[in-house]
Amino acid sequence: MKSIQSNIKKAKKYLDKNHCVAVPTETVYGLAGNAYSNISVKKIFKLKRRPFNNPLIVHYFNINKLKKDCHISNDFIKLYNKFSPGPITFILRLKKNSKISRFVTNKQNSLAVRFPKHALLRKLLKSLDYPLAAPSANISTRLSSVKASDVTEEFGSKVKYVLDGGRCIIGVESTIINLLNKPVILRLGGLDISKIEKILQKKILIKKNLKKKIAPGQFPLHYSPGIPLRMNAKKPKKKEAFVLTKKRKVSFNNYYYLSKKNDLKQSAKNLYSLLRKIKNDGYKMVAVEKISNKGIGRTINDRLNKASKY
Ligand code: TXA
Ligand code: MG
Repeated sequence: MKSIQSNIKKAKKYLDKNHCVAVPTETVYGLAGNAYSNISVKKIFKLKRRPFNNPLIVHYFNINKLKKDCHISNDFIKLYNKFSPGPITFILRLKKNSKISRFVTNKQNSLAVRFPKHALLRKLLKSLDYPLAAPSANISTRLSSVKASDVTEEFGSKVKYVLDGGRCIIGVESTIINLLNKPVILRLGGLDISKIEKILQKKILIKKNLKKKIAPGQFPLHYSPGIPLRMNAKKPKKKEAFVLTKKRKVSFNNYYYLSKKNDLKQSAKNLYSLLRKIKNDGYKMVAVEKISNKGIGRTINDRLNKASKY
């Protein structure tokens, strides 16, 4: 308990001084900085090697703190009450007098906001006078981090401090919903769309091939282990690692399992760390067997599809 408090204090100290700190969330680790500070936000882009035209998600403790920065709508309230804190990100209209750094939004008047569920991060957010801008803690186009050591692998000592919150329980990023007009899903993620549809009581469109340069997937390659990846493979080619979702009777050294019994939640949780392990084990190519497109399986396939554009 004592060390938790002192770790949070340490993270706060760095953040107050405009440094970047890696933080745990229930989805993936974030590379966080003070969202009101141009200095902090510019540091995030630099460390991640992220182009300034790709805006960041801002993380809040609760709706009260958000109201200073964004206009809220009825649909937002319904979804917030049901799913926050949790793996959903909302695109809202930014208030004119908001203190959000213009670098967060690339000077647009919309803001991506999220209320993460991880207890440690919630304690930290509560203690701060500002919300945290935080993209996933990885170099642009690469695999997201799901544990503290992944962050170190990505950034080495360039990140001042990693607040270690253990392994992320969901393992893939949040679902992004644009609420500026008619609700539209911009990114599949940790929260099932069917659950969102149930609350809003309508069918929700999923946006594909966004032309405007504001949304995920604008760069074809994303979530990549840094080696070529092939989907829907029946069997591996020579020298390929093979990723499976359930145990086979006959297994080989190059077989890697996302789950034992075709459990999709488990598979999502293991996805990035398994691909990271395959790369670190020295494989130059990876094949993945067909994964069911149900529930979070759809998110897994979305990530694999982007990772296959190597
Ligand atoms: O689970 C998550 O969402 C993680 C954790 C750390 O919270 N964060 C995350 O951030 O995945 P990032 O930066 O890797 O992905 C955020 C996506 C980007 O693709 C960006 O284009 C999109 O959100 N985005 C941010 N602001 C936006 C806006 N105003 N309109 C549309 N898309 C936006
Ligand atoms: Mg990312």
